[in-house]
Amino acid sequence: MLTKEMTWDYSDPSTGFSLPAPYFYDSRVFEEEKRSIFMKCWHVVGHVNEFREAGSFVCQDIFEQSVIVVADREGQIRAFHNACQHRGNRLINERRGKIPAVLRCAYHSWCYGLDGALRAAPRSECLKNFDKTMFGLKPVRLEIFAGFVYVTLDNDAKSLAEMAPGAEEEMRRFLPDLDNLKLVEEVDVIVPANWKVIQENSIEGYHFDLSGPVHKQLAALIDFKSYRLTPHGEWWTYMAPPNAGAKTAYGQPIAGATWQTDWFFNIGLWPNTTLYCFPFTDMVGTFIMIPLEPEKSLLRFGYYAPDHRPIPELTKSAIAWMNQELGPEDIALNVSNQKGLHSMGFHQGRYLIDEQHVNQSEHLVHHFHKLCYQAIRG
Ligand code: FES
Ligand SMILES: [Fe+2]
Repeated sequence: MLTKEMTWDYSDPSTGFSLPAPYFYDSRVFEEEKRSIFMKCWHVVGHVNEFREAGSFVCQDIFEQSVIVVADREGQIRAFHNACQHRGNRLINERRGKIPAVLRCAYHSWCYGLDGALRAAPRSECLKNFDKTMFGLKPVRLEIFAGFVYVTLDNDAKSLAEMAPGAEEEMRRFLPDLDNLKLVEEVDVIVPANWKVIQENSIEGYHFDLSGPVHKQLAALIDFKSYRLTPHGEWWTYMAPPNAGAKTAYGQPIAGATWQTDWFFNIGLWPNTTLYCFPFTDMVGTFIMIPLEPEKSLLRFGYYAPDHRPIPELTKSAIAWMNQELGPEDIALNVSNQKGLHSMGFHQGRYLIDEQHVNQSEHLVHHFHKLCYQAIRG
């Protein structure tokens, strides 16, 4: 499927050209990514604590697929394809909720237990050779990794621990109370840009001091010279210690010691999951770029806070600042970047690779592009 102008030499990021523009809008690339990346990868669904009560569910859509993740009566978290085994009707259309006693299909009332077993199928007594045990919901592979629940549609996928060795330790060092979080808020934004355009923007510090005013606010909260962006195969981190001289953050005074490390810490898991915390805050954010179309993505912002202490005002302000200031400033860049990629006057650029100033280097963008290219080249 790769045409000549879409072959890419990624061997030397410091002298070579960047991933060609069609990778960000061509529908054939998008179909390849869907098959070779998203049908095989792990998708973060939510935190384990969202499944404390029997019947609590979260639905995760992956293109035309939909997966129900639900807590059963024994407290086990299970995942099933969101399709009734009678005629295939989609069972749940909400993102979150609670299944009462049984999961009932709205079409002909087949009813499933929280373990996926078919409990009742009205009038099925009249059927010959009908064995209810053969019509349970189809299970989906699920893993819990560092307090969060993930699903994959690929039964051969490496486990998350195998895919990202060392990642959990790194998360536990920087993210506060990973096992005791509660969901504060989830915000979905549709962005008219390719999912990779959004990812790229988040994994380089080159634009921090050079784009909009909110980025400069963020740069001022950290020791920007110490910002480090580090690839580790199929996971990566980008982080900086807090600016010890900062007096206020997100419009609030920084009053003394705060939480965990106070670092600006971000960790990316292949291909599109990011967990992070902002400096001086008591929270864990999720930042997920979900591809919908070649030039349309669902950007999902999740905010989680430790559930055994009140959320500090500074943390609340940080969440509002992300939703109302930093997020929109980056999304505006994503949208205009996407438009420019279509120009007949642009095909490839250069990565700004600077070994002397690694905080502002684009080496992680190159690493990410290489993973994408290798995934679809097979
Ligand atoms: S499709 Fe679900 S009961 Fe008929
Ligand atoms: Fe940005």
